[in-house]
Amino acid sequence: MKIEVFSDYKSMSKQASLFVAQRIIEKPNMVLGLPTGDTPKLMYQNLVKLHEKGLIDFSGLETFNLDEYYPISQNHPKSFYRYMHDRFLENVNVPKNGTHIPDGSTENIERECQEYEKAIKKSGGIDLTVLGIGKNGHIGYNEPGSEFGSKTRLVELDESITLTNKLENTTGSINKALTMGISTIMRSKEILLLASGTKKKKAIKSTVRGEVTTNTPASVLQLHPSTTIYLDEYAAEDLGEY
Ligand code: GLP
Repeated sequence: MKIEVFSDYKSMSKQASLFVAQRIIEKPNMVLGLPTGDTPKLMYQNLVKLHEKGLIDFSGLETFNLDEYYPISQNHPKSFYRYMHDRFLENVNVPKNGTHIPDGSTENIERECQEYEKAIKKSGGIDLTVLGIGKNGHIGYNEPGSEFGSKTRLVELDESITLTNKLENTTGSINKALTMGISTIMRSKEILLLASGTKKKKAIKSTVRGEVTTNTPASVLQLHPSTTIYLDEYAAEDLGEY
């Protein structure tokens, strides 16, 4: 694991966008695994700016998102589909048929998960997956206890992260998600993990310094051959010397 600590979220995000941009320049037809959440928002903004300046061409890319709530329609304001299209995919030139997000409105979960894994294989495999991390060390929606051999599947979300808790007066509860599994993520040739803020310092310490255990899903990254971790100094607070 290669760790770099930046003075703040802004500089971490800038470097993250340059990391991704460099890989795209090196391999214009690369396959990119993408996260959602608050952490990557500024990275996406920076990538859109690089594209608008004509510096990065995304037309050769294929992208796979890590997860999506279930059940949710693509146009639900809080769907990861909406997040990705509003913040990134509709502002760069990734080919429409080159973007893959688990379908939160599928009638056949089993088939959707199998098709997702097949599409990743058909793409030749993911070259770089950008990850965020949950406060409990989850990656994608692989919660503590997720098997390291897990594949794309439907998971229950624990109370603290069900979408319903994040939405005022929503009808019905969205407490499940479709997520790439840990083995799906680990098959990525390269991984860039981003974490910002003191609320992630415990998860980062366990991920980097702790034992490899399903209690901290991200600790599996200690076994990955090419993982880079970008942190701001708040998320790195408990790391000590590294
Ligand atoms: C969610 C997402 C993850 C994300 C994590 C951290 O659970 N499923 O993909 O990395 O939370 O989100 P944030 O960056 O908002 O802290």
